[in-house]
Amino acid sequence: MSPAAPAAGSQSRTFTTIGVVGLGTMGAGIAEVFARNGHAVVGVELNDEAVERGRQHLEHSTGRAVRREKMTEAEQAELLGRITFTTALADLADAGLVVEAVVESMEVKKAIFRELDGIVSPDAVLATNTSSLSVTELSSATSGPGRVVGVHFFNPAPVQDLVEVVRTVVTEPDVLTDVQALLASLGKSPVVCGDKAGFIANTLLFGYLNHAASMYEGRYASREDIDAAMRFGCGYPMGPLALLDLIGLDTAYEILETMYRQGRDRLHAPTPVLKQMVTAGLLGRKTGRGFYTYE
Ligand code: CAA
Repeated sequence: MSPAAPAAGSQSRTFTTIGVVGLGTMGAGIAEVFARNGHAVVGVELNDEAVERGRQHLEHSTGRAVRREKMTEAEQAELLGRITFTTALADLADAGLVVEAVVESMEVKKAIFRELDGIVSPDAVLATNTSSLSVTELSSATSGPGRVVGVHFFNPAPVQDLVEVVRTVVTEPDVLTDVQALLASLGKSPVVCGDKAGFIANTLLFGYLNHAASMYEGRYASREDIDAAMRFGCGYPMGPLALLDLIGLDTAYEILETMYRQGRDRLHAPTPVLKQMVTAGLLGRKTGRGFYTYE
């Protein structure tokens, strides 16, 4: 059973050019999803080095598809050719939708939204890929909060079908409909939810991940056995500790911390070992070491 798609013909905007601000793991994945589906993408990063990292991420990810014979080299070149890289937000003037995917900092995100508000056309949609910050508060940095929406992709963005579309109390209904239709056209399964830290999936997921980290910390079982239990006993594609490594321990810690601040429930009080690992730079796959070690 798949979530209900918006009614055909109800879309009022056509999204040709898509802006993506921030080309880290999520931003690069989101840029890939749009470019794979024929959209022109403008990817923005802070400086030339960050642009280069984003470009490499995209080359690596699409190169994997070529190696697996899911894409030809010519298709890869065409896909990458649809993406323009820049360090100037002003280059997003023609974007019908901008997805912001920078660090989980309200101040940084607000500054970007404030600037974007003066750059894009009045009917362009401004979206954030935040996992747990308030979309409503972010929207207050713009002159038109009705066009601001959360568009929360899952990691790896090119693979995971789910996208949570987060509506605030002031998001215009046509913005919601248009964004849902756009996501469905990408082959994604959008679900709509309200603006509460964690949305649907992370609210259900992160208590479980936190509990797994706490089991590991208490030496209740080995990391391999904790992960094997959930893979082979419950049919999860990967165990919770491997998943924390994929998400990034810094990101996971921030999400738990935000959810804990909002709800004060013990389930989301970050397990101390997470903080210790973040401080020690063991962030998971992106640094080569987390609960596991990666080549
Ligand atoms: N980028 C792009 N594509 C990737 C990828 C990546 N990082 N990792 C894997 N893939 C692709 C592979 O190319 C492969 O594609 P094809 O089927 O077209 O060949 C497919 O994914 C399967 O990959 P593998 O065969 O290598 O490995 P797998 O079958 O073990 O799957 C996985 C890997 C997709 C990561 C799978 O284990 C999985 O779905 N894990 C759970 C991930 C999850 O729960 N994500 C949500 C995290 S929470 C979140 O993101 C929210 C938040 O706010 C933090």
